Formats: sequence, structure tokens, C-alpha cells
Amino acid sequence: MKEDPIEAEKRLKGCLTSLNDLIRNVRNFIVGLDPSQSHSKDFKTAMEALVASMSVSPTNQLFLEVDPEASKALKPHATAHLLQICREAISNSLRHSHASSTRIRLEKADEQIHLEISDDGVGFDPDTVVMSGFGLRNMSFRAEELGSQLDISSKLNEGTRITLDLACAPQNGGRNGNGDGHPHQTHTTAVGG
Ligand SMILES: Nc1ncnc2c1ncn2[C@@H]1O[C@H](COP(=O)(O)OP(=O)(O)O)[C@@H](O)[C@H]1O
Ligand SMILES: [Mg+2]
Repeated sequence: MKEDPIEAEKRLKGCLTSLNDLIRNVRNFIVGLDPSQSHSKDFKTAMEALVASMSVSPTNQLFLEVDPEASKALKPHATAHLLQICREAISNSLRHSHASSTRIRLEKADEQIHLEISDDGVGFDPDTVVMSGFGLRNMSFRAEELGSQLDISSKLNEGTRITLDLACAPQNGGRNGNGDGHPHQTHTTAVGG
């Protein structure tokens, strides 16, 4: 610290940023565990707040595109799981990707709701790191809980794309739509490979 005060200051600022990230993550996690919070908002409104609270990087810009119809079609427990998947994916992008942009998109087509979180960062080899942390695993578990499958596509230096498809809830409230179906296996592929 005495030898190189400029470097020391840089490192301290880095530590402070990491600590603030951690505090934000813990706070978001706690908010996500409170059913009254996650059930009271629709996906679009909650995501706008989440993206605003996570837009902290001057280099990695977050872009959100939510089809209001898709947002409305989600059941509350699907909304809660999708919000947590997005939170973890954005957090990963901010911490690991060195991307210049991260995009979150929710759309509805052909009775399917499609969620996609993608970045243009450094990417990773899914075969070697997918089981190393809890974040990706928890995202997959949440997808399975909704009767869907999470697709994690990434390749070194070619960014990361995480996608999830859900069947729209049938109007009669049957068990097969949007989160009550049978789980599929988690699916992991490499981009372009
Ligand atoms: N968007 C991303 N860009 C680059 N690497 C990523 C991204 N998401 C995940 N990774 C890699 O996958 C690893 C596992 O992620 P995760 O399961 O969330 O655990 P953690 O974030 O605690 O390390 C990360 O440590 C990182 O190496
Ligand atoms: Mg993580």
C-alpha cells in the first residue's frame, strides 16, 4: 500500500464494488424469498425494478425487452422463478463476462413464453464449469420446477445465452401450462458448436 498507493486505491475500489455487489445480491435474494413481494408484481414491472437496481456497470449495459402479453400470461410462481433466473444470469454477466451489453427478453409466440438472457462477453466452456457454482445449477432447478428446461449456450470469447421456454397456461387453469408440467432434463450446449 505504501509502495504503490495508486494501485492500492484501485484495489480498494474493486473490493468496495464487489462488496456492494454482494450486498445487492443478498438483498435481492431475500426479496425473492418473500412470496408477498414476488407475487404482487408482474414480471415486467419487477424486471424493470431489478434491471434499474442492477444497472451499476459503466461498461456492461443492460437492455430489457418484455412483451406485456407474455408478462401477463405468467402465473405468479413462474414469475417468481423467472425473476430469480434473470437476477442470477445478470449477476453472472456483471461479475464474469466483461461484456459490453446484456440483453433480457421475454416474448410470447405459438402458445410458448420464451425467456432469453444473453451477453457479448468472454463466455465459458459449459462442459467444465457448469457444475462448479450454485448459480447455474439453481437456475436449472428453477426451470425444472416449472416443467421446463434451461438451455445454457456459451463458448469462450463468443458470449453466453441462456434460454427457457414455457407452455402458456391454458385458460381453464389445467395443470400443464406455464409451470405445472413434468420436468425435462437440463440442456447445455456450446454456441456455434
Ligand atoms: N455470463 C457469463 N459469462 C462468463 N462466464 C460465466 C457467465 N455465467 C457463468 N459463467 C461462468 O460459470 C461459472 C459458474 O457460474 P455460477 O454457477 O453462477 O457460479 P458463481 O457465479 O458463483 O461462480 C462462473 O464462475 C463463471 O466462470
Ligand atoms: Mg453466479
